[in-house]
Amino acid sequence: MNKWTVVIVGLVFTLSVVATGLIVGFAVRCSDSNDDQTIAPTTPPSVTLPLDWWQETIIYQIYPRSFADSDGDGVGDLKGIEARLDHVTSLNVRAAWLSPIYESPMKDFGYDISDFVSIDPIFGTMGDFDSLLEAMHKKGLKVIMDFVPNHTSDLHRWFTESKKIDPNNYTDYYIWADKRDCKTLICKDACMNMEPQGCPPNNWLSAFGGSAWEWVNDRAKYYLHQFLKEQPDLNYNNERVRQEMKDVLRFWMNKGVDGFRMDAVSHLHEQPGYPDEPLSNNLGAQDDEHGYLDHIFTMDQPETFERIREWRQLMDEYGEFNDKHIFSVAEAYTDLETMTKYYDVADMSFNFELIPIDEACHTGYCIKERIDGWINQMGTTSRWPNWVLGNHDNHRIATRMGEAYVNAMNALLLLLPGTPTTYYGEEIGMLDHGNITFNETRDPYGLNFGPDRYQEFSRDPERTPMQWDSSDPAANFSTSNDTWLPMHPDYKTTNVESQDVVDDSTPLNVYKALAQLRAETAFRTGAIELADGSDNLIVFGRNDVNAGTKSYLVIINVGWHDQTYNHASGSKSKVAMQFGLEFSVDDIVDITAGISLQPAAFIVLEVYD
Ligand code: GLC
Ligand code: MG
Repeated sequence: MNKWTVVIVGLVFTLSVVATGLIVGFAVRCSDSNDDQTIAPTTPPSVTLPLDWWQETIIYQIYPRSFADSDGDGVGDLKGIEARLDHVTSLNVRAAWLSPIYESPMKDFGYDISDFVSIDPIFGTMGDFDSLLEAMHKKGLKVIMDFVPNHTSDLHRWFTESKKIDPNNYTDYYIWADKRDCKTLICKDACMNMEPQGCPPNNWLSAFGGSAWEWVNDRAKYYLHQFLKEQPDLNYNNERVRQEMKDVLRFWMNKGVDGFRMDAVSHLHEQPGYPDEPLSNNLGAQDDEHGYLDHIFTMDQPETFERIREWRQLMDEYGEFNDKHIFSVAEAYTDLETMTKYYDVADMSFNFELIPIDEACHTGYCIKERIDGWINQMGTTSRWPNWVLGNHDNHRIATRMGEAYVNAMNALLLLLPGTPTTYYGEEIGMLDHGNITFNETRDPYGLNFGPDRYQEFSRDPERTPMQWDSSDPAANFSTSNDTWLPMHPDYKTTNVESQDVVDDSTPLNVYKALAQLRAETAFRTGAIELADGSDNLIVFGRNDVNAGTKSYLVIINVGWHDQTYNHASGSKSKVAMQFGLEFSVDDIVDITAGISLQPAAFIVLEVYD
């Protein structure tokens, strides 16, 4: 018999579940399956109820340069954000993460900071920030700041001091090393005869390509930069550096912010002695690309977790004193096992398992495997789940999966357990701008690789300005026709205004409805039970064992073909939401009779026994 038996991933959450091991399961069956497979449930972790704000909200990422420009200079700013807060709250979002707004020469668009406790004039003033913070709090929005601890700008005063010949207080604020002797080591021809700098201290590569070392004549030494040469790495072996960065956290906590997204923390510490890194044997990577080496000495070092633990302690101390919880989330692109270590020292570590889904991972099998991977690694302890579908460093989901799948993907993101992160514009299905020329390119990551290869690396396509309406010249993002990145030409049709209409199938309206639905107890706190994979469908149950709460079944066609879903046993159900099917909300559906879903359709059913 074609039967797909129950797969229960007991991720979650009530003590009674832990105590009794009671599992309420959905029996699910997909029509095209021949497998008969059961996976044992994992032990549900205990999570303290009631949930804290960061466990209940969607995190909405605002990339300030691209959200709303109030002063017509073509770059988004704080006043622009403040004027658009109603859009954010209309999404049922309760927290926004702001990418960096600090003083910066903008070599990496704010991730190169020259003063951690100031606002860059392009974004406004500290007064504008205070006003934005107050306005957000008034509207019930928590504010998550971007904390960029790994590096500063090369124009930060600490670095200009550190570069000087004469030793001073800042001499050891960065990672300085002697050149390598060209005569005794195999150097690339390029640096063989170069004086005075000889060869860099080792083979380490920058995340943006090329050597991670830059020579400074005055000091006759190299400094480390794991990103741009204009982003020198701070030296966390120096106690004073640690203190300075704690002061930065204190400054923003005293302002009243609610949490921090901790940037690029994998890179905080390096192996002493700076040994060469081994080759990754990654066939796709050329010898100047970061992926060419296996980063066993520059990423995820043991001391890194100590630093983050110290920040956690500081936040906890502050929080206790001020009767609030300061939220922290680590940004670490790393394997799942290492990610558990970040979870141990922060509230969350961003879960990037959904980032690689694209046309090469466009089946129920593939996407389920990615969901399982995370849940199997994290789900047996009290690590709060979270899911990221897009951000300013990765191609947009509408481009990766195809525009038609935006609603299906938002359904997946918002109905999985835990905290979802939505990148601005993904609520209206914005696409990458695929035709930005080399001349128009601004992202240094793209520029570094020159006109022939920039498109492989540039992050500009996913950073184009928010599309508010169809007006010229810039979709009401700005009055300027010279926006910092070109507008995506489809703003005439894809924009907030055109989707805010009486039509429950626009991406914006689907997003809002999903965001409302996830307020149900079963979605907020319930366990997830994932059915076995199939070509096209992702099927999962969400239920809470607490008496009286509703149980839901979510069926999403993420594949290329129609597929029918049959529920194994005779439950009755009612349509809570759907996209791409013939049902209406509240229709009663016999789920054992078979429900056919076309590609990109989804249905959420409230299930009765
Ligand atoms: C993080 C940011 C990215 C930035 C890098 C260096 O990965 O998300 O945009 O370029 O850190 O700060
Ligand atoms: Mg502006």
